[in-house]
Amino acid sequence: MKELICLGIETTAHTFGIGIVTSKGKVLANYKKAYTTEKGGIIPYHLFEHHTNVATEVLEDALKIAGVKIQDIGLISYSNAPGLGNALRVGAFVARYLAGKYKIPLVGVNHCIAHLEIGRLLTNAKDPVLLYASGANTQIIAYEGKKYRIFGETLDIGVGNFLDSFARHIGLGFPGGPKIEELARKYAENEKNKNINIDNYKEDKNNINHNVPDLIDLPYSVKGMDVAFGGLLTNLKQKFDSDKFSKEELCYSVQETVFAMLVEVSERAIAHTGKNELLLGGGVACNKRLQEMCRIMCEERGAKFFVPANDVLVDNGLMIAWNGILAFKNNGYKCIKIENADIKPYERTDEVVVKWR
Ligand code: ATP
Ligand code: FE2
Repeated sequence: MKELICLGIETTAHTFGIGIVTSKGKVLANYKKAYTTEKGGIIPYHLFEHHTNVATEVLEDALKIAGVKIQDIGLISYSNAPGLGNALRVGAFVARYLAGKYKIPLVGVNHCIAHLEIGRLLTNAKDPVLLYASGANTQIIAYEGKKYRIFGETLDIGVGNFLDSFARHIGLGFPGGPKIEELARKYAENEKNKNINIDNYKEDKNNINHNVPDLIDLPYSVKGMDVAFGGLLTNLKQKFDSDKFSKEELCYSVQETVFAMLVEVSERAIAHTGKNELLLGGGVACNKRLQEMCRIMCEERGAKFFVPANDVLVDNGLMIAWNGILAFKNNGYKCIKIENADIKPYERTDEVVVKWR
């Protein structure tokens, strides 16, 4: 049988992305345009306008990069869940239009699951626990009994939105995550240099590492397998407004605190499921300090650690295309009718029956 080529459309939030991949897992294109704002958050109507305006250009450029024509595409997939209605609707519309006009089979996929599946394709992870840390989502996901189960998650906001809100409050702009990372790294380096004092080492009978800067006391909110960031955000804003702490030391402490929370629940999920792999997904997973903390935890318990490249950690069309192939090939090549190609803004990861595993 001729190799199947899938074109996947991602529009759950700020990204309009198109990925093109073959059924053997060969990546042909992963192209996107993202909606950004100077200040403030996403305005749904502007998001709709953005995605509608860039759709043609992203489609044409993705096909050009892949070196294929629309007539070569054997499957269209689109992210039908979860996400913002105004964004999801554009992807669903473009997918329906292409499927109808060019008579191409159509499937819908869940965005959170796609993050995990693209990690399995592009790393050596076989059956990992996924720490999915993005703007809107924070979930610990693993496969069990035909479903991707949520073993832990945020009880309020996603870790990325939390970092962005704090960054906005202290005047760093959007997206705040990378800016917080940069300030935290500089702070840690400066403090390390200050602390290189030979006397520290002479007295170090307990082998304490004096090169690690002190942390500001912050609420550490792990509840069972879940995490929460709302109270911490309020506390941080109050601390910043009190003028007693520098931006840099707050950024350092906030990263150490929230990443420790994420590592703790990830480790507990690994122990609970008996799996021995941790995979990262989501925009916050681009953070080098989070990666380092996860790597250390995995090394200490003899688990394997996997992190794909940044362009597939953040929202992207490639993961939607690859999940489309998995869902189509392993479900008797069943597709959906155009009139049934709906969106499910609130669908949860564990509502999807995984036919391909
Ligand atoms: P989803 O729809 O999956 O929830 P999303 O729409 O929030 O995802 P992503 O691209 O996965 O989009 O993630 C964006 C988030 O990642 C933003 O909150 C951003 O601040 C954060 N982020 C990006 N890079 C870093 C970094 N280096 N450190 C911390 N956070 C980061
Ligand atoms: Fe995402």
